[in-house]
Amino acid sequence: MNRFDNVVKACTSDELKTQLWAAGRAALTAGAMIRELYAQPHTIRMKGSIDLVTEADIAAESAIIASLKEDGSTIAIMAEESFDETTEPDKGRTWVIDPLDGTTNFAHGLPLFAVSIALVENRQPLLGVIYCPMQDELFMTSRGGGAWLNDKKIRVTETDFLVQSLVATGFPYDIHKHLARILEQTRAVLPKVRDIRRCGAAAVDLAYVACGRFDGFWEMDLKPWDTAAGCLLVEEAGGRVSDFLGHPYSPFKKEILASNGRLHSLLLDLIK
Ligand code: IPD
Ligand code: CA
Ligand code: CA
Repeated sequence: MNRFDNVVKACTSDELKTQLWAAGRAALTAGAMIRELYAQPHTIRMKGSIDLVTEADIAAESAIIASLKEDGSTIAIMAEESFDETTEPDKGRTWVIDPLDGTTNFAHGLPLFAVSIALVENRQPLLGVIYCPMQDELFMTSRGGGAWLNDKKIRVTETDFLVQSLVATGFPYDIHKHLARILEQTRAVLPKVRDIRRCGAAAVDLAYVACGRFDGFWEMDLKPWDTAAGCLLVEEAGGRVSDFLGHPYSPFKKEILASNGRLHSLLLDLIK
């Protein structure tokens, strides 16, 4: 497969090259499956009052796990649709998988969603892949190996002024619990920036910060699989990622602020 030759070459560890290749292949396989299912009627089950799961979430998760195993991986797996959230996540090496990030978009026929796969150790990502099947955009990264889109290096923006920035945010499923804070943050940010987008897929939001489509992104109440690949992608693209207090980020924290770095403290002041 030559879809990610340069990405794999840039990876600083031989052992991780194998895993990066396997993650890339798994994401493309699941993405192709999601693309096919997108055009067909969906089977939808509710996980909560507004939280959906479709046939594509389930099929993509099985396809990713099968693909990783086919490539010889015996690493532990934490995947959204099969992970038991009452158990403590492993601190050892683990694949952290969101088989379909942006399920609501998928279910409503809005073509913005992604497969997200990260390899995490000691709660920090070693590598990550985000694949947007409808755009055929494959974002990949490894620690120290840069951030890439379709095998070309990407970088965050150089925007210095909030008034010139396009930022993104997301709303958690448990919206009633967080509504007041979200409205407060929006009230603070909206008048200062060029505009705000809410795309409906946190992994895509982070990939778009990494490649310079957005200058920043924040959201609360996220899960490790929403951000594990994307947070490394942003850092490797030259950006900064933290929690809402400016402390170092880990995908096991619930709140994230990602930015081009230059706007980080200004955004932090508005949302904290
Ligand atoms: C959701 C999306 C959405 C974000 C939610 C996530 P899912 O993931 O990333 O943009 O606002 O917080 O849970 O359920 O589509 O995988
Ligand atoms: Ca998700
Ligand atoms: Ca999902």
